[in-house]
Amino acid sequence: MSRRREIYEGKAKILYEGPEQGTLIQYFKDDATAFNNQKHDVLDGKGVLNNRISEHIMILLDKMGVPNHFIRRLNMREQLIRAVEIIPVEVVVRTIAAGTICKRLGLDEGSTLPRSIVEFYYKSDPLGDPMVSEEHITAFGWASPAEIDEMMSMALRVNDFLTGLFAGIGIQLIDFKLEFGRHYEEETMRVILADEISPDSCRLWDIKTNEKLDKDRFRRDLGGVVEAYQDVAQRLGIMPESSPTKRRGPVLVSDKSKSES
Ligand code: TMP
Repeated sequence: MSRRREIYEGKAKILYEGPEQGTLIQYFKDDATAFNNQKHDVLDGKGVLNNRISEHIMILLDKMGVPNHFIRRLNMREQLIRAVEIIPVEVVVRTIAAGTICKRLGLDEGSTLPRSIVEFYYKSDPLGDPMVSEEHITAFGWASPAEIDEMMSMALRVNDFLTGLFAGIGIQLIDFKLEFGRHYEEETMRVILADEISPDSCRLWDIKTNEKLDKDRFRRDLGGVVEAYQDVAQRLGIMPESSPTKRRGPVLVSDKSKSES
């Protein structure tokens, strides 16, 4: 059996050489990690769900004029993508305080920020992705001022679009992380959205109950991680061909004797 050439293995995905020049295959693993790999588990079905959710969102973003690496889904766990030179900067957009900003600035989880805030982190596992400023990014040559402007404006467009998309299905978008890459085509280069958009890379809360529907369920040992991702996929109207059907948490059973008396 011929084996594809592996280009890169990350914590949650593997990149293989694609069938044509300038393409790659992005494979979604079931592995979940947090706190820079200190916590690790394999969550059956997570990769399948993230592949579908990311596909769905990337297709919509493309229609909204946000260029991205997605070409087409190949199977349950793989998608064909454009090969890009990844910019080593993670772009985080926050609208509601959660996660590291609460600790850093002493904010209450769930408080609304004065406006959506864009942050940059240097992509480096050995350093644990430290937060950096535009000054660091340009001084060290990770991205040019023009590329930073492009990433920021695309990130804010993604924020507007995703906020509306999720609000429409009863989910509040709290924050998310994006990655961008340089796509070279003949003589031209443009910055496009890369990586994935999924409950691994977003914080998503049920609008009514504030129940977490994202990777914080794993980070905080809340259980029901895959079921929560499945809930997101279901609400988006996309369900994989075969996937776990368990619902998380206790099921409310009506007490007939009470309701009928
Ligand atoms: P944070 O509050 O932990 O800094 O995370 C902000 C957002 O970025 C949150 O939606 C989770 C996402 N994120 C990733 O996708 N990958 C990461 O490595 C980290 C640290 C955060």
